[in-house]
Amino acid sequence: MRRLKLAILISGRGSNMEALLKAIAADPDYPAVAVLVASNRPDAAGLKIAEAADVPTVAIDHRAYGKDRVAFEKELDDELRRSGAEIIALAGFMRVLTPWFVTRWEGRMINIHPSLLPKYKGLDTQQRAIDAGDNEAGCTVHWVTSGVDEGEIIAQARVPILPGDTADTLAARTLPTEHKLYPEALKIACAKILQT
Ligand code: GAR
Repeated sequence: MRRLKLAILISGRGSNMEALLKAIAADPDYPAVAVLVASNRPDAAGLKIAEAADVPTVAIDHRAYGKDRVAFEKELDDELRRSGAEIIALAGFMRVLTPWFVTRWEGRMINIHPSLLPKYKGLDTQQRAIDAGDNEAGCTVHWVTSGVDEGEIIAQARVPILPGDTADTLAARTLPTEHKLYPEALKIACAKILQT
C-alpha cells in the first residue's frame, strides 16, 4: 500500500501534530508517513515532541524575513520539497499563507480549525461562539485555499457549549475532539490524493 509522505506545520504546542504521529504509529495501514515537522517558531514545544518521535524537524523563524512573507514561504517550500512531502497538514500553524504558497500546494494541504466552519473563520473562535450565544462549537478539517479557512470541508465534529464556559474551558473541551478528528480527516484527504 502506498503511503503519502506527510509534512506537518506547527507554531506551538503541537498536540494535534502529536495526535497525527500517534495515529500513524498505531496503524501499519495508515496512508501517510511523517517525513518532516516544520515550525515558524524555533521555540515551539511541538518540535521536541517530533524529535522524540524521530521525525525530522526544521524551524524557520518567520521574524528573520520581516514583512516579506513570500521569502519565508520560499524557504519553507524548499524544505518541504527536500523532504519529499506529498501532503501537508497544518496543525496550529498560525501564519496566514500567501497565494504564492497555497497555489503550489493546493489539493495537497489541509488545516484544522477550532470552529464549526463556515462559522468563525480566523481567530478567537471560542469567544465568538460564546458571545453569539451558540449552544455548540467544534472543529473542522478542510482543504486549504487562498481564502483563509474557506476551503472545502473534509470533516467536522461538534462539542457542546456549557453554561459558564470561557474561551479556555471551551477550547480545552474541544481539543480531544480535534485529536480524534484530525487523523480521520487526514486519512480521507490521503485517499482522495491517492485516487487521482
Ligand atoms: C488547535 O486548537 C487548532 O485547532 C488551532 O490552534 C490549536 C493548536 O493547538 N488552530 C487554529 O486556530 C488555526 N487557525 P496544538 O498546537 O496543540 O495542536
